[in-house]
Parts: sequence; C-alpha cells; structure tokens
Amino acid sequence: MIAKTEEDFNGLKEIGRIVGSIRDELVQKTIPGITTKELDDLAGNMFEKEGAVSAPKSEYDFPGHTCISVNDEVAHGIPGSRVIQEGDLVNVDVSGSKHGYFADTGISFVVGEGDEMKKKVCEVAKEAFEAGLQKAKPGSKKSGIGRAVFQTARQNDLTVIKNLTGHGIGRTIHEAPDHIYNYKDTWDDELLKEGMVIAFEPFISTSEEEVYQKDDDWTYATERSYVAQIEHTIILSKNGPIIVTL
Ligand code: CO
Ligand code: CO
Repeated sequence: MIAKTEEDFNGLKEIGRIVGSIRDELVQKTIPGITTKELDDLAGNMFEKEGAVSAPKSEYDFPGHTCISVNDEVAHGIPGSRVIQEGDLVNVDVSGSKHGYFADTGISFVVGEGDEMKKKVCEVAKEAFEAGLQKAKPGSKKSGIGRAVFQTARQNDLTVIKNLTGHGIGRTIHEAPDHIYNYKDTWDDELLKEGMVIAFEPFISTSEEEVYQKDDDWTYATERSYVAQIEHTIILSKNGPIIVTL
C-alpha cells in the first residue's frame, strides 16, 4: 500500500509495535528445552491480548500463529514438538493485522553458544538489512535494495537466497510490489514511491542460493547451508525510511 493519511501511519505503527514485541518475546523465551509449539502458544496469547490477528493463520490457514524455523529450515517452519537445543540457528517470523493494517517482522539468531558460521550469517543478515535500508528511498530503483544485499553477502564470502523475497504489505500481508529480491534483478526497473510500505527481508546463505519446500507443504529448507533473515516492515519517506517493527 501507499501510506498517505495519519490513520494509515498510526495503524501501521500499532500493528508494527505488536508484531515487534511478540518477536522480541519469542527470541527471549527461545532457550534449550522449550518446544517451538510452546513458543507459538505464547505468541498466540499475545496476539489475543493485543486484539490482533496472526496473518499466516488468517490469510493462509497456516498451522501456527508464527513461523519458527530451526537449523536447515529457512522459513515457514511449523511450530510443533521440536525441542530447542543449545547452538540451534532459529528464525522467528511474526506477522499480523489489526484494524485492517498488516506488519511483518523476523529475525534469525543462535541459541546460546553456537557454530561461528551460524553467528556469521546472522551478523551479515543484519549488515545486509542496513545496507539495503540505505537504498530504500522514494524515486530510487527497487533493484538497488537487492544489489546492496547481494554486495554485502559477497563482501563477507557469503551469498543470498534467490527464491525468497521481500514484498509489499499494508492492507494485506503480501501485495504490490510483489518481490524485493536479494540480488539485482536486471529486468526490475520499478521505482520506489513516497509512502510505499514494504516488508524488507534479506536472506543470507553460506552456500546454496535456493530453498526447497519440504513434504509438509510449508517449510522452506536447504540441504547443507546456514541461512539467516532479518525482516522489518518499513514506510518509505523522503526523510528516510520509517521502521514500524523495531
Ligand atoms: Co515475515
Ligand atoms: Co515477509
């Protein structure tokens, strides 16, 4: 959507605050011994208390309030009986709506002491997010964001996932612009607009550049890579991007 009115800005900031606080709570509660279902139940309670609705559940009938992906899983992991272990690479992705406005946020992190490579992909995902954010300006080419993400990955001897992308958001969970790639797509000449609302989510990978879908019809995974994502919902403005999910 293009945010124009004060109602738009306030509505986006409100749902942004809610999904951001659920994300932070889940990160804090992700300790060895807890199951991903227990984490997801916490999120469900928080959505209810805030008068908000989980987007994957309401829009896609996803079997959970949030997506929790562990180790080889990259995105859309289904919360369940899996027990979190020390050293796991975990991604929590929280999206929801309230009063007709949607926001989406996610973060990858390592539980306790983990593999150096797992920590590195998480760090570089943050760096790539910051680099892309610098390019998220009205009037600039959308592909400049992906270019910055890809360059950041390469500078760190890593790569990106090419078949997962960021997306427009606001009045629904996925809307125009359909794809914000993690690399510069030569054919993408779309320009960013004042007030445009996007979910920017770089995916940084140690080697593979594509995810496959598991037999559960939801979970995206890789065969042998570590992948990390950082996602925020942002409103583009000439005075700099407004991150509503901090
Ligand atoms: Co998300
Ligand atoms: Co998203």
